[in-house]
Amino acid sequence: MAQNKVGIMDTTLRDGHQSLWATRMKTEDMFPVLEMLDQVGFASVEMWGGATFDTCLRYLNEDPWNRLQLIRKYMPNTKLQMLLRGQNLVGYRHYADDVVVEFLKRTIDNGMDIVRVFDGLNDIRNMELAMRTVKEAGGHVQGTVVYSISPVHNLDTYVSFTKELLEVGIDSLCIKDMAGILAPYEAFELVKRLKEFVDVPIQLHTHYTTGMASMTLLKAIEAGVDVVDCALSPLALGTSQPAVEPMVAVLQGTPYDTGLDLDLISKISEKMTAIKDKYPQSKNTSIYQVNTNVLRYQMPGGMISNFISQLGDQIDRLPEVLNEVPRVREDLGYPPLVTPFSQMVGSQSFMNIIAGERYKMVSNEVKNYLMGHYGRAPGHIDEAFRRRIIGNDAEVITVRPADVLEPELEAARKEVALYMEKEEDISSYALFQQVALKYLKERESRKYNIDFELAEKAKQGGYPV
Ligand code: CO
Repeated sequence: MAQNKVGIMDTTLRDGHQSLWATRMKTEDMFPVLEMLDQVGFASVEMWGGATFDTCLRYLNEDPWNRLQLIRKYMPNTKLQMLLRGQNLVGYRHYADDVVVEFLKRTIDNGMDIVRVFDGLNDIRNMELAMRTVKEAGGHVQGTVVYSISPVHNLDTYVSFTKELLEVGIDSLCIKDMAGILAPYEAFELVKRLKEFVDVPIQLHTHYTTGMASMTLLKAIEAGVDVVDCALSPLALGTSQPAVEPMVAVLQGTPYDTGLDLDLISKISEKMTAIKDKYPQSKNTSIYQVNTNVLRYQMPGGMISNFISQLGDQIDRLPEVLNEVPRVREDLGYPPLVTPFSQMVGSQSFMNIIAGERYKMVSNEVKNYLMGHYGRAPGHIDEAFRRRIIGNDAEVITVRPADVLEPELEAARKEVALYMEKEEDISSYALFQQVALKYLKERESRKYNIDFELAEKAKQGGYPV
């Protein structure tokens, strides 16, 4: 039986620069390649979500909604895709349900086609509302299984979580390996097993960090995966995805042929290469080295480099800290090492070693996690340990975390009213508050040629006019 053609999702405009250039690519540098990208015939182009929304407002003085509108306009033939952290949307905490619904409706209204929804704990309760809202708004829901390595993550748990996703309703399934630790033969087994009962396309996302990713994609393709994530060569490899061009070349003339035009893709890559010099991050060659520590310790590369910089002249204690990570992870019921849990586990492991006593100091994040505010831990948490950390009186919630949140949208609408030009501004503000407000004020000051910060001070008498 002839195999279906393999599709490629191009990640250059999202994960590519998020992984290699700290998410700093400006919309003006995307613009020159949009129409060409639109001609390629990628299964989809990932260009929004993840850290891009925050970075637009915080560092680039750009409106992320304008980026979405512009890309939509110049890429009418291609499915646009984004990454969404479930109830965290594109931010770093759980938002109230009304914010989730409003944000996603606007997102689909502005032309987003496919929303990849994930939760770091694979807790369906943190994903369900987002998934249903995307569906109701007419979008394509890509349910995600977060891949991790631990005693409680195995083929059976992935199968049962996938069944939960199918029950809610998904249009495609993503296996997401953010650390690049999914090995080729494991990928083969996983895809094969999922293919037995998943009747929607399966897509694989991994990172090149450990040097395994191209092999992993190839084995997954042999097992029947439908779409693989790659980036154009100037923004591929290292901590990013495998490159598009070799993947197209490797599959040419095989039953998995992508049918994509290598010449056209090379032309786009040439244009991307030309803008590389504008980004100082692209000069950092260390991100292109195979990270053997990630391979050995199965931890994200960012976590290990954080330890190295935090330890400073105590670098000889690195092995102790690295050995503490799996112990902390076990105590916390094996959360996958993905945002925010990689930071949570990392800083706790560091403190446990540096303070000379385990859990002498405990971060609020760990306490909130143990009180259930992030969702259900994948594994077991010892009750005595939990109480030792949060105290006997602290309330532990077992309900869906967002159920304990009050609505936030109306307050956001009021607080942003003065600077609001469009409904999307409310979502920007609800998500990023002061960061968004600063952007909106700057936009307003450009319009009226007033420095609102100074004028505000003058109004309060703090600045002589
Ligand atoms: Co990624």
